[in-house]
Amino acid sequence: MLARCFPGLARPWLNGLAVHRAQALGALERATGSPGLVSLHPRRDFSYTHGLQGASGSAHRVTINFINRDGEKFSAAAKEGESLLEVVVNQNLNIDGFGACEGALACSTCHLIFDDHTFQQLGPAMSEELDMLDLAYGLTDTSRLGCQVCVQKWMDGLTVQVPVEASDIRRELEVEKQSKQ
Ligand code: FES
Repeated sequence: MLARCFPGLARPWLNGLAVHRAQALGALERATGSPGLVSLHPRRDFSYTHGLQGASGSAHRVTINFINRDGEKFSAAAKEGESLLEVVVNQNLNIDGFGACEGALACSTCHLIFDDHTFQQLGPAMSEELDMLDLAYGLTDTSRLGCQVCVQKWMDGLTVQVPVEASDIRRELEVEKQSKQ
């Protein structure tokens, strides 16, 4: 199941998901003896990514371009209200390892880099997304997680960059755990 872009009414459920993620990462830290994997950001205000805007049965088609790690460009026909992760999956775009946790905010493999102007228009990320971004390789000032960004009409023609490297924190923790056994 893929995560959808969440309207504000789903916030309590999302809070619960974030708590479960933090608890899971905390348990993994204890199990692997690797503290610090769950970064806390007391200075960051709580917020969430834009919810669905105009996502309904009459959703507009929006073209989103992805530049893959090797420079190859994919153009995808997206629907308003889909997450960028859903666009990649639904359009079967060949981006290796993208969206490994299916939008559960537990892997950072859906890391995408936006241009400055677009990034400003996306609005603030929620603190759980920022925590997971901290674990992403090649983090930039305009990085976001594709599973947390909703397609909106104004994005038509948008181009996003897939970082050259990707990390799946779940896999790294598993390897670390096995190496200690
Ligand atoms: Fe795993 Fe976005 S798909 S954090």
